[in-house]
Amino acid sequence: MCSDCNWQKKIDTILAQAGNRVDNVTGAISMPLYFSTAYRHEGLGKSTGYDYSRMTEPTRDVLEDVLAKLENGCKAYAVSSGMAAIQLVFTQFNTGDHIVVSDDLYGGSFRFFDLLTKHYHLRFSKWNGNDYQELDQLLKDDAKAVWIETPSNPTMKVIDIAAVATHAHEVNAQLIVDNTFYTPLIQQPLNLGADIVVHSATKYLSGHNDLLAGVVICKSEATAEEIGNNLITIGSNLSPFDSWLLIRSLKTLPLRLHKQEENAQAIVKDLKNSDLVESVLYPGRGGMISIYVKPAVNVDRFLQHLQVLSFAESLGGTESLVTVPAIQTHANLSREVREAAGITDNLLRISCGIEASEDLIHDLNQSLTIASDKVEVNENGK
Ligand SMILES: Cc1ncc(COP(=O)(O)O)c(C=O)c1O
Repeated sequence: MCSDCNWQKKIDTILAQAGNRVDNVTGAISMPLYFSTAYRHEGLGKSTGYDYSRMTEPTRDVLEDVLAKLENGCKAYAVSSGMAAIQLVFTQFNTGDHIVVSDDLYGGSFRFFDLLTKHYHLRFSKWNGNDYQELDQLLKDDAKAVWIETPSNPTMKVIDIAAVATHAHEVNAQLIVDNTFYTPLIQQPLNLGADIVVHSATKYLSGHNDLLAGVVICKSEATAEEIGNNLITIGSNLSPFDSWLLIRSLKTLPLRLHKQEENAQAIVKDLKNSDLVESVLYPGRGGMISIYVKPAVNVDRFLQHLQVLSFAESLGGTESLVTVPAIQTHANLSREVREAAGITDNLLRISCGIEASEDLIHDLNQSLTIASDKVEVNENGK
């Protein structure tokens, strides 16, 4: 509990109030935006606490404070993208270090791990997320960390964070969790034993498909200090305006996520009964669904006939999107690796927005029907 408040406030209240009561001079309710990169000193050895905005910056400070509370960490760092957050975490490691990673991650994470292998000789081994004997074997090879996403992207496999933390800590390896899909409102990895959480804040945290941002949240002061010093060196910090926009977006996260989850559950119920859908993957919570469409469905026609959902490569926003992982998020993996992971050409990922569920269901069904081989195609392919 903070020293100046006399009860522990709920997370919805902390989010709605983010940035309020910061500026005691004007009483601004909305967080003031500080564009200054440099801060004047009264004299030698004197500082307001702000010197140069690559170190600290008032708008970003407020954002980082809220993000740390949201994940129950000791310190959060807001950076320029989800990939910048992943890169920042890796500044802790050295050439030759071994990292165990779950085998179903965002494709860009694998692309970055390939770069680290090629240029910096880090070593990565893939783990299937459920065989703990295999995990122990991999950890024995001097592993420095385990990196997981749960639910996984795009096949929605769920990994037991607490169990992985126990195994990792037996060999003093860190557990790092990419919590982009569930957000801390559904799952708080640090409370389950993880050491570091990363987010692509481009997704649910910002939630409007208009901001690229990333977050690293640390459990221990020692990790936070090392990562913080590295961030000052790298300089991938989030800009003041984007920090302000993320503060504003976080205020409505509980409302947005509630509606997105409600929509996902309604769509899952409907699509499970569709003749044109082979199977539906949904982990039970959140706004993300993956579906395998039947061979009768022409995927390109389906995407072209959507009227509410958009064929686009992101997730977590107010607008519903459909992604084809095989040609978008996971295109950098070889066909063989993709298909072994279940990322086939008929797998579609749906990010549910906040529209009326009836319209989303209607749109998916009308487009599936038009794209099925039961409907004749005219000379324009429509
Ligand atoms: C789970 C996950 N982590 C990280 C990233 C990378 O984030 P960004 O695109 O903000 O760099 C993404 C992007 O799609 C993602 O889905």
